[in-house]
Amino acid sequence: MLRITNIMMPDGTRQNIEISLSQDITIDGTNLLALPGLIDPHVHFRVPGLEDKEDWQHASVAAIKGGYTTVFDMPNTKPATTTKERLDSKFAVINQQLQEVNIPLKYKLFFGADKNQFHEIYKVKNDIVGIKVFMGASTGDLLMDDESSLHAIYALAKAHDLIIALHAEDELIIRENAQKYASETDFKYHSIIRAPEAAVKAVDLVIKLTEMYGVTSYILHVSTANELELVRKAKERGLPIFVETCPHYLFLDDSMYPQLNGRAKMNPPLRSKQDQDILWNALNNGVIDTIGSDHAPHKLGEKEQPLCKCPSGVPGIETSLPLLITAWKNGKTTLEKIAQLTHDNPKKLFDLPDNDDLVLVDIENYRELKDEHMATKCKWTPFVGMKLTGFPRYVFTQGRLFDCDKL
Ligand code: DOR
Ligand code: ZN
Repeated sequence: MLRITNIMMPDGTRQNIEISLSQDITIDGTNLLALPGLIDPHVHFRVPGLEDKEDWQHASVAAIKGGYTTVFDMPNTKPATTTKERLDSKFAVINQQLQEVNIPLKYKLFFGADKNQFHEIYKVKNDIVGIKVFMGASTGDLLMDDESSLHAIYALAKAHDLIIALHAEDELIIRENAQKYASETDFKYHSIIRAPEAAVKAVDLVIKLTEMYGVTSYILHVSTANELELVRKAKERGLPIFVETCPHYLFLDDSMYPQLNGRAKMNPPLRSKQDQDILWNALNNGVIDTIGSDHAPHKLGEKEQPLCKCPSGVPGIETSLPLLITAWKNGKTTLEKIAQLTHDNPKKLFDLPDNDDLVLVDIENYRELKDEHMATKCKWTPFVGMKLTGFPRYVFTQGRLFDCDKL
């Protein structure tokens, strides 16, 4: 039996918890907070083909150390996950990698939308968590920037009752800006090229498609005030639109390029402090539904290249929860809200079964984030140097208790 005494719950009460376990273990919960096993609806664990950046042996450890027991992985791998054959082989490789490290991480896969492979969707519809659409190009070669293909994918999603997850940035605006600023070398131009207008235009189109087809749209990594305003109004009208934001938009902003350079390059890019303030309001008042880490590792050597060569993406699955818990300590949000965003809402939206996963989070000790502490294969964090609390101490999942300090 696992006995946890006097542990704090998200509503602030203290409880004793008992869970069936093969050994007898008692944990003093006085300095700990109990959360359900967290769900990260947006990770890039890079398998197959990009294992120099990340693999499931490393990423599963990073997930458990971050308090996550379920993840949804993205299809922009090499090759991209756009056929049944590739999906099946991806499942097989992931299962093998998880078996090697003996980590029972639960996962689901998004299927990549590719206009040349539409016929594959009906073959995989029961095996995937949803369809991922890149309206703007990012890492990898997935792109669907023409309206007729977008209509076609919404019609397919409707026919097969699938959720569409969208990378909503307008490709044309980005390409025009990229040409205009082609000779710039300062990383701040990344935020100027991938301007807020590109995100807003794409979100506007997503809302129209959602209304037209009645398909559930999950807008990934929302980062600007104006996108949120569109979403707020669409939700008010009862449209099935759900939105995610990511820790980097909540804890970093576009004034930080001078210190972070390539470490701050991701798509969509960092935004202004004003956008960030509005993101926090939207998070607290229910416009934002989930937090995804968008864990998108690249090697530090790649990130240290000049702007034009530096790939977009940052790791984040091990730092999301400590950032949020530290924000709670600083009065920015509540523990109940954190539990909603990282568990209750994604569970409901993606219709996941109940489980008894539990994360015991240390809410008293502060630790400075260092690259070398990271379990991700890429071994760096854009939040380097921040002093955070809220690191998971133990994770219970599928009958096993993990001591996070020993992973
Ligand atoms: O910054 C990003 N990195 N944004 C994306 O859309 C993709 C991701 C990646 O896979 O590297
Ligand atoms: Zn992503």
